[in-house]
Amino acid sequence: MTEEQPDEEALARAGEILKAGGLVAFPTETVYGLGGNALDPQASMKIYRAKGRPSDNPLIVHIADMESLPEIAREIPEQARLLAQKCWPGPLTMIFPKTDIVPPETTGGLDSVAVRFPGHRTARALIRAGGGFVAAPSANTSGRPSPTTAEHVEEDLGDAVDMIIDGGEVGIGIESTIVDFTEPVPVILRPGYISLEMLGEILGEIRMDPGLLREDSPVRPKAPGMKYRHYAPRAELSIVEGPTEAVVAEIRKRARTAEQKGKCVGIIATDETCGRYDCGIVKNIGSREQEETIAHHLYGVLREFDCSQVSEIYSEAFYTPKLGQAIMNRLLKAAGHKIIKVEDEENDSIGK
Ligand code: TXA
Ligand code: MG
Repeated sequence: MTEEQPDEEALARAGEILKAGGLVAFPTETVYGLGGNALDPQASMKIYRAKGRPSDNPLIVHIADMESLPEIAREIPEQARLLAQKCWPGPLTMIFPKTDIVPPETTGGLDSVAVRFPGHRTARALIRAGGGFVAAPSANTSGRPSPTTAEHVEEDLGDAVDMIIDGGEVGIGIESTIVDFTEPVPVILRPGYISLEMLGEILGEIRMDPGLLREDSPVRPKAPGMKYRHYAPRAELSIVEGPTEAVVAEIRKRARTAEQKGKCVGIIATDETCGRYDCGIVKNIGSREQEETIAHHLYGVLREFDCSQVSEIYSEAFYTPKLGQAIMNRLLKAAGHKIIKVEDEENDSIGK
């Protein structure tokens, strides 16, 4: 089924599955979601079981129209309405105090609820068919890279889900930006396609969750999901950070040394650098000039390495201007924050 031509019959069937308490995986513009009826505690518990996800990690409730918002969320500030006007439907999730119809099973026991109104037409059609409130985390096994194709979902959750709606490859490739409106000043709990800069332009005052800024931060991230190691490929991933020439030289050196020891090495490079590597399995993740391409390919590349024999992976750092924060947030988690810092006299910088 494609987004342009949603198959009405399949959507109706998916809606019935959701209403009966079953699980349906579906495409959104960010990543594939694993959907269940958000108002049914049993369905939420099924989602946790299917993903192997800790039940204190709350789910996002997806809606398909603005009228649904006050049914599940309270104390919606003017700022949030403004943001909704500009960014919904789209890759943005907002957190508010919840109403009583949202069961604690869906919110991991919290009094707040995360709400997203996705831009993807098939996603919205499914939400409507399923009764209007669909709880959906990313449709991966907990800890693995989020799925950007229906095949990824099948790989992880094939047996645990009642139906997978195949909408082809997603557009953005990393999860929605999460903004918490339960604080006096809105806080970004997870960076995403809607950047800090864009949010600042719309809202004026906004801050980043201090728990996200440094790995050794004394403050825990407020979104429970952000504290877990995540998106990790099976091979050991390290990020090499610094000026371009030094990064390329370091990765080449490490790849050669590892190959001399009989190891198979993966390298994550870009359009601008991939021709510079002469050993290892080199994956081109996209172009630094078009940073969306890097976000778009990130999870797919991490998964591709799982199908190869590589035992270690070296990735360049991608501190690109707009999406760099969101991309590096995922990449650093995937690498368990293993960073190799290199320096040289050149000014042509890949890192900070
Ligand atoms: O793009 C997306 O947001 C995708 C698609 C499917 O919509 N969904 C997604 O869901 O990424 P998930 O469950 O993988 O990530 C949800 C994140 C977790 O880090 C969770 O801890 C946080 O949102 N979260 C959910 N409800 C929250 C709440 N009430 N307070 C704080 N954090 C919350
Ligand atoms: Mg997830």
